[in-house]
Amino acid sequence: MAKLEDIQRLCLSRAIIFPTAEIYGGLSGCFDYGPIGVLIKRKFLDYWRQFFVKNEDNIFELDGAVILPEKVLIASGHVESFVDPITQCEKCKSIYRADNFIEEKTGRFVEGKSPQELTKIIREEKLVCPNCKGSLSEVRMFNLMFKTFAGPTGEQTAYLRPESAQNIFTGFERVFRAVRGKLPLGIAQHGHAFRNEISARQFVIRSREFNQIEIEMFFDPENDGCERFDEVKDKEIIIMTREAQLKNGEAVKVKVGEAVKKNILPNKWMGYFLAKEFEFFKSLGIKEENMRFRHMLPEETPHYSGGNFDLEIKFDFGWKEVVGNAYRTDHDLKNHSKFSGEDLSVALPDGRKVLPHVVEPSFGLERILYAILLESYVDDKERGWVWLKLPKKIAPYAAGVYPLVNKDKLPDKAREVYKLLKKEFDVFFDDSGSIGKRYARADEIGVPFGITIDYQTLEDDTVTVRDRDTTKQERVKIEELINFIKNRLN
Ligand code: GAP
Repeated sequence: MAKLEDIQRLCLSRAIIFPTAEIYGGLSGCFDYGPIGVLIKRKFLDYWRQFFVKNEDNIFELDGAVILPEKVLIASGHVESFVDPITQCEKCKSIYRADNFIEEKTGRFVEGKSPQELTKIIREEKLVCPNCKGSLSEVRMFNLMFKTFAGPTGEQTAYLRPESAQNIFTGFERVFRAVRGKLPLGIAQHGHAFRNEISARQFVIRSREFNQIEIEMFFDPENDGCERFDEVKDKEIIIMTREAQLKNGEAVKVKVGEAVKKNILPNKWMGYFLAKEFEFFKSLGIKEENMRFRHMLPEETPHYSGGNFDLEIKFDFGWKEVVGNAYRTDHDLKNHSKFSGEDLSVALPDGRKVLPHVVEPSFGLERILYAILLESYVDDKERGWVWLKLPKKIAPYAAGVYPLVNKDKLPDKAREVYKLLKKEFDVFFDDSGSIGKRYARADEIGVPFGITIDYQTLEDDTVTVRDRDTTKQERVKIEELINFIKNRLN
């Protein structure tokens, strides 16, 4: 398996993803996407939208502001509770996230412990600053939100949103009315989220600004209305139960229908989304054995939750959450009703008024792209270069177009082919260096097809098409090229 360093090196050398404001030394945890990164990201988002939104009749989209007034985040609980425990070296002033630090140094699981308990453990275990051996301060809580002030006099406190979800709750009533909605109804959103992580690290894995893609599925708690559940009930997923975690056991493969029936999963909506996610990631090349849904332990789960199931992927450095799935009950709508004074309940056809319950799948784009890059990375000794076996649907370009040599009208003909393909696909033109070097450059960013214009092209209007995965070449008529590529991409 490739390593974080390999992916990072490739991302930097091809400007796929690179540090923000790099020429000024960057800002830890913030990244920019270059041309290839933008294309991969856009294609991934299109595919996600196709899979989770367009495929459904009752999921609508929102694109909310990233700056939220303080009241929203007081109501959601973020102002009070979106905190991590920190400890500081009294000598060199280095800061550590206390729970992670203790877990790393002692192997003890301390998630959910109070600052006092964490301080006690630091003292018991005689932990000191790894930098300078200085003693560590008492543990205190640090709020992860970026605070700002709106207006010239800064009269209104605001925050950069720590999750995209809150716009969906605050906009719920208006959207519900506007689409003349009925339950169940989903609202989906993609956008940036911001967290002032204590130690941003592992490239994009723990960023301070990142992309979330979320759906809030609102439903009647007495009648979930998950009509398509039958389509997924026999699909198998892998769950790491709480029991297995406590007993050092294995994750189990289980049919989604059974998992709901046996109350391993709290409801059909949770089952529906987990089944869809499993399929989605498999279709992107993530191996089944490298995925699991971990039922979060009670101490990791918010008090209002009816169950959280993190989709974790096995990376080069271990298992890591890429999608958080939460049964948020009516917690958010209830609190926003209370704090805003607006009644966010919904009148049902049978005369009841309910506050909808919510199941939320929350995807983190950066971690997912990293997982796909890692899975696609092939250090090919035979070929003599690194190439990306990217799923074709999210490859940045469909094809590269190459004149075999830069003379005898081959470049003009190649430009013609390039223009033709450009109307249908993202393609690029490359006439520099040997044809082998051009193949290598395209392989390195996962371009599925290489189209070479040679002397035969001038005679019979055919080109060679090289397949990235097999390196085999075949001759295709220019007039059939668009359909040829379309078929192969699908
Ligand atoms: N609205 C629910 C929510 O925000 P979360 O588990 O905190 O849930 C969802 O975040 C996803 O966002 C995670 O599964 C992860 O992929 C991504 N994510 C969270 N914090 C991140 C960070 N600091 N850097 C990159 N991605 C992050």
